Amino acid sequence: MLNFSPSCERNKDVILAQLSKLLKAGDRVLEIGSLSGQHALHFCAQRAEITWQCSDIEENIASLAQNITDYGSENCLAPIALTLGQPWHYQESYDVVFTANTLHIVSPILVESFFRQVSPLIKPDGLMLIYGPFKYQGQFTSPSNGEFELWLKDRDSQSGIRDFEWIAELAQQQGFELVSDINMPANNQLLVWRKK
Ligand SMILES: C[S@@+](CC[C@H](N)C(=O)[O-])C[C@H]1O[C@@H](n2cnc3c(N)ncnc32)[C@H](O)[C@@H]1O
Repeated sequence: MLNFSPSCERNKDVILAQLSKLLKAGDRVLEIGSLSGQHALHFCAQRAEITWQCSDIEENIASLAQNITDYGSENCLAPIALTLGQPWHYQESYDVVFTANTLHIVSPILVESFFRQVSPLIKPDGLMLIYGPFKYQGQFTSPSNGEFELWLKDRDSQSGIRDFEWIAELAQQQGFELVSDINMPANNQLLVWRKK
């Protein structure tokens, strides 16, 4: 597996369990920032009735495509290049957009781009699912998330664990309402938004 992520491997079952409750047969999912595609490959293997479209920045497409060829099932489509902050000449619409561990990596400007670029691709009543760590009222949910923030900032000053309240504001501006904020293991959240 190229770009294998141990944390992705640890968390993929709990994410699968939550997504299984939220997705219905026939749904088409677009993932932003798939990297290795581990979430997609795991989900597609368990849920043949759901089609999953992986994406990532151009430089990660070849390795992602190789992983899907090597480990994918038919419902896991060949990946497409989608880079936040660059125009997407892309007309498809999806029932669900999923992203994991991306909003704390990309810059605040690109977090704003995420909501602007993703919203038009989601059908009315569709879901936007965002997995990762968040802060609430300026507070980390655990000391280890505070340490993770220092590690992120040291690597790239534009990265950082985002304030839930800011994310909620950006989602609401694009016409989403919060359905649930699910506590996940390892101090992560799964934020579930529905497009009105
Ligand atoms: C920490 S990795 C998360 C990978 C995977 N989703 C996971 O949970 O293991 C962050 C991802 O964001 C992607 N990324 C970084 N900048 C991006 C951009 N401008 N547009 C889209 N994706 C981006 C990276 O290529 C990478 O796949």
